[in-house]
Parts: sequence; C-alpha cells; structure tokens
Amino acid sequence: MLSKEIIGIIGGTGPEGQGLALRLGLAGFPIIIGSRNPEKGTAAIEKLLSIAPDLSLSCKDNLSTAEQSDIVVISVPFEAHQPTLEAIKSHLVGKIVINVVVPLTFNKGTAYPVVLPEGSAAVQSQNLLPESKVISAFHNVAAPHLLTLSHSVDCDVIICGDDEQAKRKVCSLAEHIQGVKSIDGGPLSNAQFSEQLTALLINLNKIYKSHTMIRFTGLPA
Ligand SMILES: NC(=O)c1ccc[n+]([C@@H]2O[C@H](COP(=O)([O-])OP(=O)(O)OC[C@H]3O[C@@H](n4cnc5c(N)ncnc54)[C@H](OP(=O)(O)O)[C@@H]3O)[C@@H](O)[C@H]2O)c1
Repeated sequence: MLSKEIIGIIGGTGPEGQGLALRLGLAGFPIIIGSRNPEKGTAAIEKLLSIAPDLSLSCKDNLSTAEQSDIVVISVPFEAHQPTLEAIKSHLVGKIVINVVVPLTFNKGTAYPVVLPEGSAAVQSQNLLPESKVISAFHNVAAPHLLTLSHSVDCDVIICGDDEQAKRKVCSLAEHIQGVKSIDGGPLSNAQFSEQLTALLINLNKIYKSHTMIRFTGLPA
C-alpha cells in the first residue's frame, strides 16, 4: 500500500525537498511539490524531470499539497517552520508528517545548533500539530547526494517518533531510497540529537570539502 501513497513535500523547491522528491519519486511514489510560488514549483519539476523523466510529479501551493497528500514532508528553513505549519495544520490531521527541519545558526563560518525550549524542531512541530503523527528523519542526508543520481545515498537515516506504526512506515519509506538504512532512533524527544548532529556534519564538510553523512557500526544487521 505504501507505494501508492502520495507524498507531499512542503518546501519541495529547495535542494533537500527536491532531492527527496527525486529519490522517493524514483521509488514509485507520486510526489506533490509544495511551494508558495507556482513558477518556482514548475522550475523544480522541470529540473527533476530533466534528471528522471518518468517521475510522477505535480506542484501545488502548500495548503493544497497538505490537503492532497497522504504523507507530508516538512522541508523548510527553521525560520519558516512554525508559520508554515500553522498555515496548513488543518490538512495534516491524522497524517504522518515527516520533519526534516534543522534549527541552525552560523557564527564566523561555523554551524551551531539552535537550542530550543522544546528540544527540537520535531517536538515543536508535534506540539503545533497534536492531531498528526510527527516523525523526524533525513536530517543527516545531504541534498547534493540525493540530487546526483550517480551518487549512492550511502548512509543511515535516524528516524524518531512516538507513534510506533508511523515510525515503522517511515523507516520502510526511507529504505526505498537506494543505499539508505533506517535506524530506529527512539521517541521523538531523541530528534534533538540527530538535528544537532547536522551542525557537526556541516562543519566537517568545510574541513573535508565534502557532503558528509553517517553510518553506525555495532548495531545488529
Ligand atoms: N540542504 C540540505 O542538504 C539539508 C540536509 C538535511 C536537512 N536539511 C533541512 O531541510 C530543510 C530544507 O533545506 P533546504 O536546504 O532545501 O532549504 P531552503 O532551500 O532554504 O528552503 C526550502 C524551501 O522552503 C521555502 N521557504 C524558504 N523560506 C521560507 C519562508 N520564510 N516561509 C515559507 N517557506 C519558505 C522555499 O520554498 P518556496 O519559496 O517555493 O515556497 C524554499 O525553496 C531545512 O530545515 C534544512 O535545515 C537540509
């Protein structure tokens, strides 16, 4: 059933949203790109179709995207997180909402996590969407790898959430991306650790001129 579900990506015109649209679209999921700007949405679709012409893609405004999707990915900058969710929350009731948002700040070229009273953007989003099943995922997956088909998305994806069934479903969804292994990261309160880890990965990118991702060792196969 999962493969028939429509995935809406709010902020789907950005690199991370486009990358997830590309990889999940290649796995056979119909994708709706959510955007405030129809021209940006159309340009994103043209770009993705130039990479993979068989994708099932459409673009709509954020509200219609939330309304018409079965699973909704939130992929906007942290500054836009709260207002974006408040504007679409009525269409997210009962749905799985996958939060990829990382609250970050930069000082003299170094990335730092933004410490939130709730602990994480994911928990903030669950508080804003009490009738949705918020699952955090993909924080440590670099857009340039998602967007380059010659690159394997060779990484672990830490997935946190309080609804076990929804978490299992997102674990399965993530593994539709070739190369990805899902890691059960426990309750949503653990999302702060994967969000904060992203700051380290960005700082490693600067040192190694790379797009760093993660693999865990010592876990059962
Ligand atoms: N880039 C990565 O490699 C990466 C990796 C892991 C996680 N993340 C996280 O994923 C999220 C998206 O990353 P990104 O690099 O794709 O971000 P981005 O390009 O900065 O933004 C994504 C989209 O969000 C929308 N947006 C921007 N400002 C907004 C505002 N003030 N209000 C409402 N919507 C706004 C825009 O879409 P429209 O203008 O079309 O509406 C934009 O194209 C971020 O939270 C980031 O931390 C990114």
